[in-house]
Amino acid sequence: MVVDTFYYHFLKLNFEMIMQKSSTGIILLVLWSCLTGMSQNIDKIGKEKYRPQFHYTSPKNWVNDPNGLVYLDGEYHLFYQYNPFGTKWGHMSWGHAVSKDLKTWKTLPIALKEFDNTDGSQTMIFSGCVVVDENNTSGLFAKGFKKGMVAMFTSHVTKDQKDIAQHQSLAYSSDKGRTWKYYTKNPVLDIGSTNFRDPNVFWYAPKNKWIVSVVKALEYKIQFYESANLKDWTLLSEFGKQGDTTRIWECPSLFQIPVEGTNEQKWVVMLSSGHRQNNYLGMQYFVGDFDGKTFTPQKQNEPFFIDEGKDFYAAVPFYNRPKSQKDPIIIGWINDWEYAREIPTSTWRGSFSVPRKFSLFQENGVYQLKQTPIVSESIFTEIITLNANHKINSQKIRMKDNQYRLVLNINLLASKGFALDLLKNAEEKSILSYNVATETLSFDRTKSGNVDFHERFKSIESMHVKPKNGKLKLDILVDKSIVEIYANDGEKVLTDMVFPTKKNGSVEIIWK
Ligand code: FRU
Repeated sequence: MVVDTFYYHFLKLNFEMIMQKSSTGIILLVLWSCLTGMSQNIDKIGKEKYRPQFHYTSPKNWVNDPNGLVYLDGEYHLFYQYNPFGTKWGHMSWGHAVSKDLKTWKTLPIALKEFDNTDGSQTMIFSGCVVVDENNTSGLFAKGFKKGMVAMFTSHVTKDQKDIAQHQSLAYSSDKGRTWKYYTKNPVLDIGSTNFRDPNVFWYAPKNKWIVSVVKALEYKIQFYESANLKDWTLLSEFGKQGDTTRIWECPSLFQIPVEGTNEQKWVVMLSSGHRQNNYLGMQYFVGDFDGKTFTPQKQNEPFFIDEGKDFYAAVPFYNRPKSQKDPIIIGWINDWEYAREIPTSTWRGSFSVPRKFSLFQENGVYQLKQTPIVSESIFTEIITLNANHKINSQKIRMKDNQYRLVLNINLLASKGFALDLLKNAEEKSILSYNVATETLSFDRTKSGNVDFHERFKSIESMHVKPKNGKLKLDILVDKSIVEIYANDGEKVLTDMVFPTKKNGSVEIIWK
């Protein structure tokens, strides 16, 4: 944005100077209105029309993956990939925010910064996790010290602009994540690769050991290692080369999850990879069992995606939550590497999903994930029951702004489906439509507003959603430039960014 504003002011100044001298002012006036018209589509300092309000964004600069999601003494921590110097990816460090309720966040100073090495190479702090080392198993804290935080992250080393290593390193904090020290004997896990990353550690009580999942990104493989002290790691097993392998594999995690309405527990492997549509990015999951060494997935005939939209990536679960809270909670990055660097925001670039609670349900003997958003009650919310009605072909729902939660219980009756125009203003709209015959819910953002900043952005996504007793339930979160759609109590989820140029957020349903 520094660049955006700079050019804006530079052009304005020049134009004003030329206008005073030139008789070709009219032509320039047309040119100037085109330029200012264009710039209105960009999120401006002070106005920031695209900055979400109930999704966390960093006050400024580039962000990507959530890192080190952990709970300690009443605080949830969100660390994240952060560039302290600008709005494009680079200088990767860890930003930091905390929350007491997972609904509102407070930004804290940078936690882990990139650094220079004595041999002239640089280390960036790539994605990783944070654990609470309750009993000082790592020996990194003073004797008897309880509840130290240990971060395990990928140390990404470059020299002369070349990537020379990706290995896993440790940092530790004895003041609840406010200040950190790097372990002096880093790295702690190195297989001599430049594509080995994103460690995610949890405490495995039956063996009294830490277990880490880490990816060999280009081989579509997750490796599991165990350790008693977070420093010495032994390979347990590998899992991979199945499900979606259309892109690389990143950000793996392995966690336990209860099956809804039973006492049964299963395990989930979650990772970032490809999307149903060619060359976009997404996340997939496998449900199965873990015996302390090997993960065995249930049989599935196709990849299972966490989110069917284009903008949900790199999610990881929170660790160390109170024992009474059994359902995992995750947060993802809202963006897609395909166009992430170009989204038309200003001082900030990139945001995070609201936290989502996971549970498992079974359909035809196959376990699947169900997701519930954790959202503040103070958000403007409308809960509406709609009955398909052919006598009136459309109904308007008034919304003041582009920021709300809309819960719709839709009785499909004899209709063929509907189109729900969100963020509507004249021709501009983001269309959520349902086709009863094919049981398909689609989101079309091709006319959603500012779509031309990247050729890959205009898109339509679809997901299969079965009505329940002739009804469809949609929980829609709209937050300026983010739309998260939870269908049928979160059995299917779709997250997409949109950049409407107008503000009044109106909604219209058209019956088919
Ligand atoms: C995923 C990712 C990770 C890596 C990080 C770097 O979005 O590519 O694999 O650690 O981003 O910022």
